[in-house]
Amino acid sequence: MIPTLEWTPAGVNFLDQTRLPLEETYVLATDYQQVATVIRDMIVRGAPAIGVSAAMGVAIGIDRSTAATLPALSAEVAIICDTLAATRPTAVNLFWGIAQVRDLYNELAASDTPIPEIKAAVVALANRLYDEDIAQCRTLGANGADLLPREGTVLTHCNAGALATCGYGTALGVIRAAVERGHRIDVLADETRPYLQGARLTAWELLKDNIPTTVLCDNMAGHLMSKGRIQAVIVGADRIAANGDTANKIGTYSVSILAKEHGIPFFVAAPFNTIDLATLTGEGIPIEQRNPREVTHSNGKQMTPDGAGIENPAFDVTPAKYITAIITERGVLRAPFTDSIRAMASDSGQRLSSPPPLTPQLS
Ligand code: MRU
Repeated sequence: MIPTLEWTPAGVNFLDQTRLPLEETYVLATDYQQVATVIRDMIVRGAPAIGVSAAMGVAIGIDRSTAATLPALSAEVAIICDTLAATRPTAVNLFWGIAQVRDLYNELAASDTPIPEIKAAVVALANRLYDEDIAQCRTLGANGADLLPREGTVLTHCNAGALATCGYGTALGVIRAAVERGHRIDVLADETRPYLQGARLTAWELLKDNIPTTVLCDNMAGHLMSKGRIQAVIVGADRIAANGDTANKIGTYSVSILAKEHGIPFFVAAPFNTIDLATLTGEGIPIEQRNPREVTHSNGKQMTPDGAGIENPAFDVTPAKYITAIITERGVLRAPFTDSIRAMASDSGQRLSSPPPLTPQLS
């Protein structure tokens, strides 16, 4: 399995995704500030991986604290959570991961648990979330595998694979599960400008698993669809609103319209914690704006003339009407998504009108 991130006695170890596919190197974060930098600089990326990294960030912050009293530690925990919450605004998993550890801390602090016991408990929780993420991806993969063709070509956008999770992946997890069941699938990976997650990361990890993968520029999918060369599209998600509108990597929206026009099924694969019940529609999802240099430069070389205006939204929102199904570890959701999401949430006792775990902050 590809070791995306890992808790070690020395700190949290991250595979440096900015250097793939040419170099496999690791970055060790020994405090919560370094974990925040790793998330902000996209050394780790992908919604589920960001969520678990943030949980580990809170845990390492508490574990390494020298505070001698609970009030002093609680003041530090607030700063730790705010620092991590300010890294990236779109993936709701970030706020979910922080809230998981913060809520456990609050519960233990409220009952005057000794600090060493609190430290052990939050570290254990962060590691459990890591294990659960991998298990969820495998279940989600099994739930979606038979939605993919027995034989054919599947397009994906960005990287929703092992590298975007603690292992196995969401969209690529479904592809992996289908291949494990004997489906003969060729993958088309959109290169995913400007950060090239498809060209650099999706192709790298699928080829490691011997799954045939072809990279195409983002503007080629429509042509291939019109020639009957694509049988299904599957992507991940950074945040799914209560009505099914889905934020994912910039360019996903255009692919969804192309798929609709050509009668090709368009699947979203995501763990249930990517659904943000407090955000009613895609309009309410904050979209991260990243550094213009990601657009102006390629491999350190300037590609645009000085003075050109630059847009660099990192995500877009695919309206629910373009989505054939949302595949989760709890089952497959179909339209009308407001109803199916609500039913799935209440089946598992999740509150329907809960506020988000933390207020997303723009960095
Ligand atoms: O900016 P990134 O690389 O973090 O964006 C990642 C994506 O958009 C993924 O498709 C999404 O997080 C789902 S990952 C399972």
